[in-house]
Amino acid sequence: MSNNAEADFLDRDSAHLIHPLHSKAVHAKGKVWVAGEGAYLIDANGERFIDGLSGLWNNTAGNGRRELIEAGSKQLAEMAFASGYAGSSNPRAIELGEKLARITYPNINQFYFTSGGGESTDSNIKMARYYWKLMGKPTKTKVISRILGYHGVTLAAMCATGIDMYWSMFEPRMPGFSHIPSPYPYFYQAPEGAKSQGIAAADELEKAILAEGPDTVAMFIAEPVQGAGGVIVPQDDYFPRIREICDQYDVLLVSDEVITGFGRTGKMFGLEHWGVKPDLIQFAKAITSGYFPLGGIGVSDEIANVMNDSGKPWMHAYTYSAHPTGCAIACAMLDLIEKEDFPGQARDKGKRLLVGLKDALGDHPNVGEIRGLGMMCAIEYVKDRATKEVFDAADGIGAKINAQAMQRGFFSRVRGDAYFIAPPIVTSNETIDRIVEILAESTNAVLG
Ligand SMILES: Cc1ncc(COP(=O)(O)O)c(C=O)c1O
Repeated sequence: MSNNAEADFLDRDSAHLIHPLHSKAVHAKGKVWVAGEGAYLIDANGERFIDGLSGLWNNTAGNGRRELIEAGSKQLAEMAFASGYAGSSNPRAIELGEKLARITYPNINQFYFTSGGGESTDSNIKMARYYWKLMGKPTKTKVISRILGYHGVTLAAMCATGIDMYWSMFEPRMPGFSHIPSPYPYFYQAPEGAKSQGIAAADELEKAILAEGPDTVAMFIAEPVQGAGGVIVPQDDYFPRIREICDQYDVLLVSDEVITGFGRTGKMFGLEHWGVKPDLIQFAKAITSGYFPLGGIGVSDEIANVMNDSGKPWMHAYTYSAHPTGCAIACAMLDLIEKEDFPGQARDKGKRLLVGLKDALGDHPNVGEIRGLGMMCAIEYVKDRATKEVFDAADGIGAKINAQAMQRGFFSRVRGDAYFIAPPIVTSNETIDRIVEILAESTNAVLG
């Protein structure tokens, strides 16, 4: 391929395409990806990059998995599509429901499918409101989530998302959404006398429920490990206390497992780390390893029983709910996850990555924290390690380190000065060691 094949593509691209997070300036230096091989992506000029974020956290199995390709092709040949609306179903969706019931939290056994994460957030908000109406508590409609939480950007999901740059040009937000601080062990300041940082961060939920009025709050939504907000791993006592608060005030606990589901953190689902069971879950991304856009929600037996006994239809639907081809790929993916023990791989390889990064960069004066759980890690760069003073946004440190890493064949994303490392779970140990080298070199190139 010619050296300017990518530039040619980008010219044509800019004539007609509007991208997610559209920005002409960012896109001018964009990449055009033409092929994938395992944990690597290849650009239009033929250069190879380690896929440092597994696509968008989704492609845990890497590119070229015959099992997934064949499952999708077989289903497309048999029957590309049929409605999943009440009154219709298909064998692959039925099998997927059975498999999910086996691997999700024991109290979660019924599933509704969507095309991705944001639709799943909307579906859970509507499920929570519908449930409380059926329970004779129609005023319980509000949603509490966390600053730096990411739940997608459809209009309702955007209001749950707690990163303000996603709101500013789309205000006003919908009423009935509020945010509490993240547990963020590196930055969260617990009030004087608090039992622990994790309990104090969880108690922010109780304060918010009391401020809103418990009779008005339908649900609290949280990612077990915050992804897009900065790979924030909560304290061990955080989620158990959150569960207690939700129970005390009749607030549904929604676990957003769009990134953490299916092994990424070293367990099949994220809240398993802390022995907590949610009332609702949502998933997407790794359920098909990105080979097909499919997501969904799972509801507790209690909610499912109320729903099924109510006789009141849930008037919520997507054309592509339970898409047979997506469900076929998801079934093949769940088989792969179990056969190749993705949670175990993520646990072991994630440890290698985290230990490697800490050995290489742990003493660097501008590395505030290196954190992670399983195969999702982040490096938090700060101006002053002692005071945790952050760099000026105008310095663009995260972006500069990202540019250096790209020059060395590693492609990922940043949130400000938090650098994300979440390669496919199938990434080899050799490639993990190379990631560590690249990030050490890139950090030193920018920060000395
Ligand atoms: C935790 C979480 N929830 C929801 C979403 C939204 O998913 P989608 O982009 O498929 O709408 C994402 C996307 O990154 C996510 O990380």
